[in-house]
Amino acid sequence: MSHRDRIREQRENLPTFEYKHDLIEAIREYSILVIIGETGSGKTTQIPQYILEEMPEMKRIGVTQPRRIAAITVAKRVSEEQDVRLGSNIGYTIRFDDRTSSTTRLKYMTDGILLREATLDPYLTQYSVVVIDEAHERTLETDVLFGLLKETHKLRPDLKILIMSATLDVAKFSDFFDECPIFAIPGRTYPVQVIYPVDAPRINTLKSAFVDRAVEAAWSIHASEPEGDILVFLTGQNDIERACKAFEEKSRKANYKREIKFYEEVQHAVVYPLHASLETFDQKAVFELPRRGDRKVVFATNVAQTSVTIPGIRYVVDSGFVKEKSYDPNTGMDALLVTEISQAAAIQRAGRAGRTAPGKAFRLYNEDSFNQLLPNTIPEIQRSSLLGTVLSLKKLNIVDVLNFAFIDPPEETLVRNALKQLYLLEAIDEEGKITKLGDQMSYFPLSPALARVLISSAEEYKCSYEAVIIVSMLAGDLDLFRTPRIKDGEEEVNRAETCKLKLAHHTGDHMTYLNVWKEWKRNNKSKKWCKENYINAKVLDIAANVREQLMDVMDKLKLKIVHGPVIKRKLKSSSTGKIRTRRMGENDHGESADPVPILESFLTGYFTNIANKGAHRSVFSHYAPDEHLSTESSNNILSTTLVALHLHPLCSLSNNLDRNNLQFSELDWVMYSNITYTNKAVMKGVSKILWDWVKHGKGQERIKLLPSTRLNGEAQPKIEELDLEAENKIIQKENEKKEQEQL
Ligand code: CDP
Ligand code: MG
Repeated sequence: MSHRDRIREQRENLPTFEYKHDLIEAIREYSILVIIGETGSGKTTQIPQYILEEMPEMKRIGVTQPRRIAAITVAKRVSEEQDVRLGSNIGYTIRFDDRTSSTTRLKYMTDGILLREATLDPYLTQYSVVVIDEAHERTLETDVLFGLLKETHKLRPDLKILIMSATLDVAKFSDFFDECPIFAIPGRTYPVQVIYPVDAPRINTLKSAFVDRAVEAAWSIHASEPEGDILVFLTGQNDIERACKAFEEKSRKANYKREIKFYEEVQHAVVYPLHASLETFDQKAVFELPRRGDRKVVFATNVAQTSVTIPGIRYVVDSGFVKEKSYDPNTGMDALLVTEISQAAAIQRAGRAGRTAPGKAFRLYNEDSFNQLLPNTIPEIQRSSLLGTVLSLKKLNIVDVLNFAFIDPPEETLVRNALKQLYLLEAIDEEGKITKLGDQMSYFPLSPALARVLISSAEEYKCSYEAVIIVSMLAGDLDLFRTPRIKDGEEEVNRAETCKLKLAHHTGDHMTYLNVWKEWKRNNKSKKWCKENYINAKVLDIAANVREQLMDVMDKLKLKIVHGPVIKRKLKSSSTGKIRTRRMGENDHGESADPVPILESFLTGYFTNIANKGAHRSVFSHYAPDEHLSTESSNNILSTTLVALHLHPLCSLSNNLDRNNLQFSELDWVMYSNITYTNKAVMKGVSKILWDWVKHGKGQERIKLLPSTRLNGEAQPKIEELDLEAENKIIQKENEKKEQEQL
């Protein structure tokens, strides 16, 4: 059978195929339609193709995906099925990567991309069909899109809106869109046996052990079960890489000793990671069929739960955990936290084992724990800081954000917090309207705070060249420095430490990032240099890419890229005439960037992310100017209860502290980018600052003004006055009329 025939056969075998005709009919008939079907039934890849094939009158079809990796793999798969080059008729757009052209008819994209497009053009003019896929994932972007699409539907009744979802909670979608019809595609799944191991612990005791246990479980499946691939659900790049290594190690040992007798058809295990930061090349391999005699073992994030389907899976190992964005009202920050999954998620995960044949799902936790999990995953909007969302809404001239058509309205205090933060960042004014600055901020694919930093670095502090580099390096969430494991040997660990100390800047992480960038550039961006200096080359590659994009936005907004002032250190001692060695980050003339304007520009975005040293060594307290906000609720980010904050062990300041025994008085105040939680609250992206910078900053002024603002823009008395005036005029006119009649 030829490759093309095989693809056709695969397509025709999918559950959606039988309903092709009915689906097209339904899409023709209704302008809004909810489509549900089991994961893997062909919704994402097939239904847009049916429209492409059967409805030539439809111009462009836009399909959203909550995850970048899903947008890419799906677009690739579909272009292969259609036998066209990716980026021509079929393409994808994700942040920082646009593979579409003017001829693209089917465009896969992240929901964030469509959201940005909708804020620029509420009519969504370029599309004839918009598909909100994986709607059950309920990402923040998808939720806002729902509200916006409701409006778009009124403006453009001809636009076809499809909501596609796995079989979860769909009545809600239909209710939200005025009881639109639901098209259900019957599933074709096999039974899955759910297994709780005899010694399975409670889920809350698993948090530090689930990686090892998951590897154990996958290994015992491999060693004892017949044919069929294994899918293991973990949480993120780090634990996935660790698990892959551990499994490979086991495999190597077992093969060497030949102590286990494997099933004939699965002699070898081939291990694959699957997470968002993989190179696209590595992503593809996981979807290919294994060689004869091999068994695929895939360690994946939640992306494999409903977004992508890996063929051939018959065994699932469910760790019970997921990494998700959560808002912390104590600090006002979003943090990625490893949390327990919901029952619905556990059921979906188990279901992945029964796609092609009966399967088995192994849970690492016990049945009691399952029963106590939340029934459904909480929508992201109810766990986020909403800052970017609220700004987008403001930009759309939806001033009264509290009354926006949210499918599940977020908690009011969270919306109010977002409004306050935006006001403090000068993105909105006292009346809750978006400012020119806020408008500029909305063009950056960054958090409003980082966007604010870049704008002030160009306009006020004249060091945008440096600020753009540092922001680019903050954009990813990978660690810049590689730390060797203890088992790699003490020498290796020491060497890494020395490299880091050399690159570290005495003010902390921000300037250290700049140093690393400069040295990397000086060494022709070489991978070898990264390796020798224990730098994660991927972070720099990503940063280089992000930097290009940010430069484009700066250019578009006419924000100047300027080099900041420099500090000069004489490289030749005037008294002894001895040549001093060049320090990292310096040029050949001993010049390095002055940290002051750079850090001050960062404070324009992060003046609420500051902490000062506590009574105990190495503990900081979050700065809370609550004296200005005593009337606000306790949930308020600015009147937060004090949390003990710690320096991240990889922070360049912790380094200086340990090595040089720096006194803490020198570290009175620090600014941080975010907080992560391990067993304590740890600051990341930390630099020293002076209180004076904060005191004289605009932020303090605005904090004082906060109580007199009406940030949600609701119930403006001005409008009432206007109405009264209009009414008076009418009465006056009527009186005049009467008078005339009487005359
Ligand atoms: O969206 P839904 O979960 O309903 O299904 P889909 O993503 O359209 O997947 C349909 C089929 O295409 C599945 O059997 C996948 O295994 C297959 N597929 C694939 O082989 N390679 C991809 N990159 C994506 C999907
Ligand atoms: Mg899908």
